[in-house]
Amino acid sequence: MSTERRHILGGGIGLGLGLMTNNVSAQSKVQDKNVTTPLIIAHRGASGYQPEHTLEAYSLAIRFEADYIEPDLVATKDGVLICRHEPFLSGTTNILDLPQFADRRRTLTLDGTIITDFFACDFTLAEIKTLRARQSFSDRDQSVNDKFLIPTFAEVIHLAKTHKIGLYPEIKHPYWHALSGHDLGACLLRDLKAQGLNHKGASVFIQSFEPESLKKIRPMTPLPLVQLVDGGDVSYRDGSIAELSPFDWHMMGLTLNYSSLLTPDGLKAVKAYADVVAPWKRYLLKAISSAELSNPTEADCEIIENKSIIDNAHALGLKVHTWTLRNEPKRLAKPYRQDPHLEFIQLFNMGIDGVFTDFADTGIAARRAWQTS
Ligand code: G3P
Ligand code: CA
Repeated sequence: MSTERRHILGGGIGLGLGLMTNNVSAQSKVQDKNVTTPLIIAHRGASGYQPEHTLEAYSLAIRFEADYIEPDLVATKDGVLICRHEPFLSGTTNILDLPQFADRRRTLTLDGTIITDFFACDFTLAEIKTLRARQSFSDRDQSVNDKFLIPTFAEVIHLAKTHKIGLYPEIKHPYWHALSGHDLGACLLRDLKAQGLNHKGASVFIQSFEPESLKKIRPMTPLPLVQLVDGGDVSYRDGSIAELSPFDWHMMGLTLNYSSLLTPDGLKAVKAYADVVAPWKRYLLKAISSAELSNPTEADCEIIENKSIIDNAHALGLKVHTWTLRNEPKRLAKPYRQDPHLEFIQLFNMGIDGVFTDFADTGIAARRAWQTS
């Protein structure tokens, strides 16, 4: 899975102020400014500004008053959960500059893809703590590089408890981790329990792309579980999404794709073990470009809403969260006219229950505007 997903917005359908006033009845809006719904989830912390998955990125999101901070979790050699989007390290740390680790580079197959890199599972936590984090997006501020440590999940739990903010951890590649003896779900619950958070009512959502990993966790926790729904490249000609399959299903010989989870029957199956379904936003906001453009980008696309997934999920009692909203003009579809607040507001009007964003300040501002409109 790439660090940056190809996502954009839709617009042929009355964006702009029309979004705030026409598309949704007043009754569906949250009228109480103190009610934090739809949820604003700080994706990898305030990762639009600070290197993702650092205490500094999470702390900035807390200052922005996000509702949840989102750590992605992978395991070290000594079984400690650390916060990284990938189990390999070259894209988000300074490891390539550290000659003492040069011989750790090796080639592995990760969920079917051959990768040559430095893998967290080959490093002890003490070694991981000698690294420094780097901004993963080349078009974002690089002056923040090489300053901050890689945090453990335990440190992030402590931060969240101190500031009374919610936690939204994701176990990354649980099937792959299990092959090397790391049960990420068990490690996650161990760390939550150690700080008194594996109980009903705690402000924690647990997410995974792999359905079987969530089914395994289900009897071990009363916390809400989130089924992530991935997709491949978008064809901007018609907004269709290339099919992908959860890796654990693939390894079990199941031929079902992620999109099967979003049909009425698929949503029913998700409801049996999860509380939230979280599709990539392109399932909800179809991005379609005009036929004349030879090489369209997201910024060239109009957006067509697909609200039926949200409605069908709600009818079953599932909440719907989506990802990932980003400020940069090149990551915004045409109808938003380079105003990132409008993408949030469109999703709020469609009835979304939570959004992941690299820019929690934008999400919070958009929610305030929407609640008072
Ligand atoms: O977990 C929601 C979203 O973060 C999934 O995408 O690849 O950024 O973890 P990713
Ligand atoms: Ca994630």
